[in-house]
This record gives sequence, C-alpha cells and structure tokens, in this order.
Amino acid sequence: MTEIRYRPVGVDAPAVMRTIDLGHHFGGESARACEVLRDIGFTLRSGEKSVLLGCNGSGKSTLLKILNGLITPSHGRVFYQDDEINPARLKDPILHRRFRAEVALLFQNPDAMLFNPTVFDEIAFGPRQIGLPDIEARVRHWAAEVGVSAHLSRPPFGLSGGEKQKVCLAALMVLEPKVLLLDEPTAALDPRSTGWLIDFLASLPVAALISTHNLGLAPELASRALVLGENHRLIYDGPIQALLTDMEKLAAANLVHTHRHRHGDIEHRHTHVHDWQ
Ligand SMILES: Nc1ncnc2c1ncn2[C@@H]1O[C@H](COP(=O)(O)OP(=O)(O)OP(=O)(O)O)[C@@H](O)[C@H]1O
Ligand SMILES: [Mg+2]
Repeated sequence: MTEIRYRPVGVDAPAVMRTIDLGHHFGGESARACEVLRDIGFTLRSGEKSVLLGCNGSGKSTLLKILNGLITPSHGRVFYQDDEINPARLKDPILHRRFRAEVALLFQNPDAMLFNPTVFDEIAFGPRQIGLPDIEARVRHWAAEVGVSAHLSRPPFGLSGGEKQKVCLAALMVLEPKVLLLDEPTAALDPRSTGWLIDFLASLPVAALISTHNLGLAPELASRALVLGENHRLIYDGPIQALLTDMEKLAAANLVHTHRHRHGDIEHRHTHVHDWQ
C-alpha cells in the first residue's frame, strides 16, 4: 500500500476523503485494458485544499470521478468520512442523499452536467431533488455570486463556455457541500472570473481537490499539491511551493515543457513553465 503522507492541516482535522491503494484500468480484464491509476493513497482533511496536477491522460478526471462515486475503482477503496464510496454503495438511499449533498464534482466539460431547460432550473435541480426549502432565494443568491443572474431564464446550452462553467459551479454551491472536487475549474474563465474563483474558494471553509494545468494559479488555489505521474502513480504529495522549485520533479511529471525561442538573432532552447515563471 502506498500512502505518501502530508499533513499541512493540523493532525486533529478529521479526514473527509481517503483513498487506499486505489487503482483503475478501463477495458476490464481484457488484454487491451488501459491502466490509468495505480496505488493512489492520500487523505484530504476537513477544510484542506489541494491542487491535483498531472499531464494529459495521467488520470486526474478519472480520480475525481472515482472520488465522486461515479466509477467503481478496479482496485482499492475510497472513503468519505467513515463510509466507503462506490456506485454500488451509493445505491443506499440514505448514503446517496448525504453524499450527493456534501460532496460535489465540477466536471471538466460543463456540457456533461447541463441538462435542464433554463439556468434557473439547472441551479434549482439539486435543491429540488433533496427537498430544500427557499429554493428561489437560494438560486438567486448563487446566480448572483457567480455572476449569471442575467441568464436565469436562458437555456444553458446557449451560454458561452465560461458562463456554463459558472452555472455548473452555482448548481454545486447551492447545496453548500463540504467537499469540492473541481476538474479544471478555471480552464474557461476570463481573468476577472478566475480572480473571483480564487478569492471565493479561499473564503470557503470546505475541503477541495482542484485539478489544473495552470502552475501559476496552483499556489493561489491551495498550499498542497498532489501530482499524478505519467506512470499514473502519485509521485508527489506535499507543499506546492517546494514542488514549483523542483524542476526535476516537474519535468518527470511532464508539467514543464522545452521549446525553441528567439532573443533577437539568438535562438535557444530551455525549460519553460510560462504561466508562473
Ligand atoms: N471511459 C473511458 N474509457 C476508456 N479510457 C478512458 C475513459 N476515460 C478516460 N480514459 C483514458 O484514461 C486516461 C486518463 O484519462 P483522464 O481523463 O482521467 O486524464 P486527465 O489527467 O484528466 O487528462 P486531461 O489533462 O487531458 O484532462 C486517458 O488515457 C483516457 O484516454
Ligand atoms: Mg481531465
């Protein structure tokens, strides 16, 4: 069992999400099965925020979906507080209701989340499902928070990519979850909306695991980083600042790139992390 332990939040903070020996491959037992996660062990504590880094295809979205109980892992176990989580366990209506209200996943592709006729209905969907009171006030509050009040009567499919992402975020926040699993939440946002999201997340007393390719934003989003390597293992779990100065580790995880560029007549090649250097 591999668990790289990192505990920036006091050891007293209770664990909210925990994975033990987690592994996953798509394609079942066939010879063409494709391994996407191997021996993943970590604990996210109450109120703790961590970024999830890794190159394309390293398994970030798959891990977030497993943590959200949408995919049954091929190996290992996932716990939310004291409850094991997987699609079979979530057939228990009491656990399902509690887990879906308390743990929210923002999909990388907002189109995978949006299916209601209007933005209002989209944000109201979760509260209606679990029978919360004051739905209209809740929807209007969160629409205003994320800046989509002007679009409440529009169909979500007609919105821009960033607007869709904000609607999805409002649809999650309206349930006031305790754990946020955010898959590249800033990918479609403009600079003002990105700044708003960073401040907003910092002000929330929730645990969050946030995947991003933006190393410049990573230390603004969290003080801890989990890094999935190209071998689909957890190759780093520790302070984000220490990671950002470790070029060897960043290169091993394919988080920096090398390319040619010119200074006047001189052309040379070196390693870049454009968005934070
Ligand atoms: N439903 C699926 N069936 C088969 N393979 C899949 C499925 N979903 C993902 N994969 C594969 O699993 C690997 C990991 O995918 P995943 O989406 O988790 O990566 P990621 O780290 O989120 O990448 P990105 O940075 O591009 O979003 C990829 O090789 C992908 O093609
Ligand atoms: Mg992804």
